Amino acid sequence: MNKKELSASAAGDVSLGGELSVHRLGFGAMRLTGEGIWGPPKDRKGTLAVLRRAVEMHVDFIDTADSYGPHVSEELIAEALFPYPAELVIGTKGGWNRPGPNQWTHDATPAHLRKAVEGSLKRLRLDRIDVYQLHIPDPVVSFEASVETLAQLRDEGKIRLVALSNVTQEHIERARRIVPIVSVQNRYSFADREWDYVVDYCESNGIAFIPWFPLGAGKVAGEVLNQIAEAHRASPTQVALAWLLRRSPMMLPIPGTSSIEHLEQNVAAASLRLTDEEYRRLFEVPELLASR
Ligand SMILES: NC(=O)c1ccc[n+]([C@@H]2O[C@H](COP(=O)([O-])OP(=O)(O)OC[C@H]3O[C@@H](n4cnc5c(N)ncnc54)[C@H](OP(=O)(O)O)[C@@H]3O)[C@@H](O)[C@H]2O)c1
Repeated sequence: MNKKELSASAAGDVSLGGELSVHRLGFGAMRLTGEGIWGPPKDRKGTLAVLRRAVEMHVDFIDTADSYGPHVSEELIAEALFPYPAELVIGTKGGWNRPGPNQWTHDATPAHLRKAVEGSLKRLRLDRIDVYQLHIPDPVVSFEASVETLAQLRDEGKIRLVALSNVTQEHIERARRIVPIVSVQNRYSFADREWDYVVDYCESNGIAFIPWFPLGAGKVAGEVLNQIAEAHRASPTQVALAWLLRRSPMMLPIPGTSSIEHLEQNVAAASLRLTDEEYRRLFEVPELLASR
């Protein structure tokens, strides 16, 4: 495909709470930071270019979090893209802090979430955050208290839509009693299907499902994947993305990369269509692995 024709729109669209619509191939901005998701990137100019190229290819959903860097990912997004194109939706997260490289600690207390939202608004240079995700439930804070805080921030106009990450179906049901939930972000790929039932629940309830680690960190190999990739003259990572897009109309993959070449490959996967047989063979990979 001609590079000029590459467009995330080929993946089709998904609705976020009936209020916003985005192309079903987004961008995950976690890996734009320094090593260990810590500090600034080695190549700042190159990183800004990746973000700009994503938008040029009509990527209109960018996922980030205050903890990526910390703060670095949000700052880079604003530096590269502000003033934002009207159609760009930025989803950020809070409640999962970074005391050091590769270290993560919970804080989804109402006081912290309020502070976190203020910080994200400032770094992203926004008056209102389109999609705000509770990064992960905090085991020592009432889940309802965390969600109620996000609902209040929505009523105050600081958040447009509320979303969750790293949750079970029970969490989603409890949250929906407080506020509409527009998306759920859990770890998921064709080979990693712990959250299949959450994908199904989201599809039945019109909630977007955002799979993180959608490529298995570039290590998605395996006989089946390679055979299908060869048949399409595509890369295994493109096939992994095409499988996700086919898995559910509510699926919104957000592959992350710091390379323009990989970004272009990932966006090209928006046009890759698997046959029924190819889809089924990949669907059955976890069973195949379990039986070996
Ligand atoms: N909610 C959560 O708790 C949570 C947790 C983790 C991640 N996330 C979100 O999900 C996004 C994606 O997850 P992820 O970054 O862990 O996993 P991923 O997107 O599956 O994998 C990223 C890795 O794959 C490589 N890669 C990307 N495109 C490639 C390609 N076309 N060919 C070969 N390698 C490629 C990247 O390296 P290069 O830079 O070299 O391309 C990077 O090492 C993150 O950016 C973040 O926004 C959320």
